[in-house]
Amino acid sequence: ETTPPPVITIDGPAGVGKSTISRKVAARLGFTYLDTGAMYRAAALFIDRLGIDSEDETALQHALATVSIELLPAPDEFSDVEVVLNGEKVGALIRSPAMSMRASQLSALPAVRSRLTALQQEWGKRGALVAEGRDTGTVVFPRASYKFYLDASPEIRARRRALQLHAKGEEVDEKKLLEMTIARDRQDMERPIAPLVRATDALLIDTSDKTIDDVLLVILRVVESGLQPG
Ligand code: DC
Repeated sequence: ETTPPPVITIDGPAGVGKSTISRKVAARLGFTYLDTGAMYRAAALFIDRLGIDSEDETALQHALATVSIELLPAPDEFSDVEVVLNGEKVGALIRSPAMSMRASQLSALPAVRSRLTALQQEWGKRGALVAEGRDTGTVVFPRASYKFYLDASPEIRARRRALQLHAKGEEVDEKKLLEMTIARDRQDMERPIAPLVRATDALLIDTSDKTIDDVLLVILRVVESGLQPG
């Protein structure tokens, strides 16, 4: 039997900096970055475009059995991965606040989770990964070599997001951002299947007083010293 390629999992709530940090960790180690949230977003767009009734498990299963969701590497470290849904680059279509909520809602469905979990596990067979999401350390890759759970209060996450948008010259309603953050966390934490929760063997990193580079250093130090047994 051959040993599977190494996997590092990074889970946590919305807006905690998982994507940026995961991308950087992957780049530093030469691993592939797997954005599982992007897959849930693409699946949500796919389901809504087909107009499938989300209560209809059989219809969902059938449709999802043939869907193609590819992830292309981000062009630079500041950008999201590009998602190709059935051959079409969907870009910003899946990145709106409305799609974030919709992806969160539909990700609670068993048919959606089982299909995407299987696709993600296929990635794990092909090469070394940094997998990022909500359940990558608990459900998708329970035997990952290194597991991390990033956290910060909803207030801090909403504030960071507001600053980011502000820097881009966008109008920001921070109170609205906070409400959306809390609502999505609740939805992701309270669902019965694969809820957002820290794996018991994941290292908790409170990012409240840390910069992206601080967090990156903590993760690289653990991985490079081989401290956390897989
Ligand atoms: O990480 P993200 O914001 O792109 O994820 C969008 C939604 O997808 C998130 O609110 C819940 C769902 N998701 C999930 O259920 N499991 C994952 N591993 C990743 C995302």
